[in-house]
Formats: sequence, structure tokens, C-alpha cells
Amino acid sequence: MRILAIETSCDDTSVSVVDITTRKIKVLTHIVSSQEAIHKEFGGIVPEVAARKHVENLPAILQTVLKKHPAKTIERIAVTMGPGLITSLLVGVEAAKTLAFAWNKPIIPVHHIEGHLLSALIENHTIRFPALGLVVSGGHTELILVHGFGKYRVIGETQDDAAGECFDKAAKILNLGYPGGPAIEKLALKGKTDAYNLPRPMLKSDNYHFSFAGLKTAVLYLHRDGKIPKSAINNFCASLQQAIVDVLVSKTIRAAEKFGVKTVLLGGGVAANSHLKKTLASALSKIHCDFLAPSRKYSTDNATMIAVAAYHNTPVQWEKIKADPNLELK
Ligand code: KG4
Ligand code: ZN
Repeated sequence: MRILAIETSCDDTSVSVVDITTRKIKVLTHIVSSQEAIHKEFGGIVPEVAARKHVENLPAILQTVLKKHPAKTIERIAVTMGPGLITSLLVGVEAAKTLAFAWNKPIIPVHHIEGHLLSALIENHTIRFPALGLVVSGGHTELILVHGFGKYRVIGETQDDAAGECFDKAAKILNLGYPGGPAIEKLALKGKTDAYNLPRPMLKSDNYHFSFAGLKTAVLYLHRDGKIPKSAINNFCASLQQAIVDVLVSKTIRAAEKFGVKTVLLGGGVAANSHLKKTLASALSKIHCDFLAPSRKYSTDNATMIAVAAYHNTPVQWEKIKADPNLELK
């Protein structure tokens, strides 16, 4: 089945065309137009600016894509319906609905987190259930039990900031630019992971929830007190990354053992972090659990993962689709 997918939930405008069968995923077109350079100036995403840029970018991208893949070759349209920034979501959702109406094609609304959850399947086609998903992005940190496609149960989530948000806010405090994750990962490569003794919030709590606000506050106070001089920035970044990775890996392993899962799926922008991937892979191999993670280009927001999630969902009448910034994963 050939799916044209649109993703505009945050600050990336993305369109993909993907051929999907139960056995094979072939990515024909994968376009991500990043607004990173624009939002960098503000140290974070400005929703109105993001939406305006989507309005500028999306028609141009669609025009290019449709030259290569005319309407008659497309069998389904997929679009991220939520969660995300409402102003951004609206641009993609309205464009997708317009195409569905004009071309009279079935349209499938997709939950953004289901896209991240299944993103590892783009490059690995078999998954053994039950599985456990760890979705770590700028807005979400969730542990999700997966008993099959569409059979999800969120067993843990962040009580405050997301892991990616912690990277971003720490980088903002330390003047390392936006987004914070890649900047911190780069500096961490040259630092010592135990140079700073940072908190590991909720590491020992008797549940699968997360909390990263305390870690961000620790960064704020250490910076205020002059404890992070320029000369120590690599050590600090390595210690911070290690604290985040420790919490994520420890909770994932505990949940994987408790629920006896056969596979762990990693997804979301933070899944681009090599240290997280390596640490999780090594811990999971000790408990003989499969580990599937997307490569960097499918970790951060993209429409290919939305096409993959759409394949496992059913079309909905276009009139019934409404962008929902707080959409729940069911
Ligand atoms: O999934 P995503 O592209 O957008 C959301 O849905 O939020 O994730 C973006 C997040 C940002 O917080 C960014 O700092 C983080 O992913 N990120 C990383 C890395 N690359 C992106 N975090 C840690 N290490 C990275 N290499
Ligand atoms: Zn995302």
C-alpha cells in the first residue's frame, strides 16, 4: 500500500511517501524541512512562528513530492492528528483533509507517539510481542506496553519535564544553543560521566514514572553558583547525560523484566542519543530481550514513522478528523 504522510506537530515540516506491506517497508520519499535555525534565535520553539513556517513550507514540499508521485499512485493519506502544538498540527491536518477530499482518497489520522513508538520498524521489520516502548522526545517520556499493533497501555510517564526538555533547558541555561540534546551529546563525548554527582529523580520509586524537573533545577543552581566553569563543561555534559540515561535505562529494564517483554522499542528525538542506545542495548542483552531502535533520521520528527503507524490503523471520514493537541494514546 502506498501512503503519503504529513507530519507538522511541532517545528519540522515533513512529508513522506512509503510503500508498506506486512513484510516490507520501502521509503520512496522522506523530506524533513527543519526550522531549527529559526527557533535557535529564541532558545526554543515559538508556536506562532512554527505554524507560519509550516504554512510556507508545506505547499512547496507537497508540490515537489506530487511531481514524483502523482495523486493516482497514492492509495492512502496519513496525517499526525495530535498531540503537539495546535497551531502546527492544524496546518498538516487541514492540508491532508483537503487532499483527501479533492482526490477522494481514504485518510488515516495518526497519534504522534504511535509514530515514534513504531519508528524502529522502518528499518527492522519483525517484532516479537509483548513489547515495551520507551518514547523519549522533547514533549514526552513514556513507557508503553505493546501487546500488538494498536494494543497499547501507558505504564509510566513523566510527572513534569520530558527527557528531551531536560536536555533543551539545561543547554539553554548553559548557553549551548537549541536543540540541547545534540549539543550536550557532542560535548559529553569529551567528558567524564562521574565528574558531577547529579540527582537521578525517581530512580528508586516503586512505579514506572519519570521526573526531570529536579535535574533541571540542579543545573540552574550549579550554574548560578559558578560551579560549571567553561573548563568543566565537557565533564558537566557527560555527567548530565549519564544521569538522564541512568534513569531511562533503569526504569525500562525494570519494566521489561516485570512484564516479561520480548522486545524493547526505542523512539523519539532522544533516541538519536548514541550513549542511550548503547547503554540500553547492553542492559537488554543481559536479560535476553530484543532491542529495536530507529536510526538518527527516523528518531526525530518525520512523516515516514507516521506512514508506518497509519498502516496499522483504519481510515476515518475526513470530516471527522480534528487536530487535537492533547490527543491520548489508546
Ligand atoms: O521527537 P522530537 O524530534 O520532537 C518532539 O516530538 O518533541 O524530539 C526532539 C527532542 C529535543 O528535546 C532534542 O533535544 C532531543 O529530542 N534530541 C536529543 C538528541 N537529538 C535530539 N537528545 C539527546 N541526544 C540527541 N542526540
Ligand atoms: Zn516527536
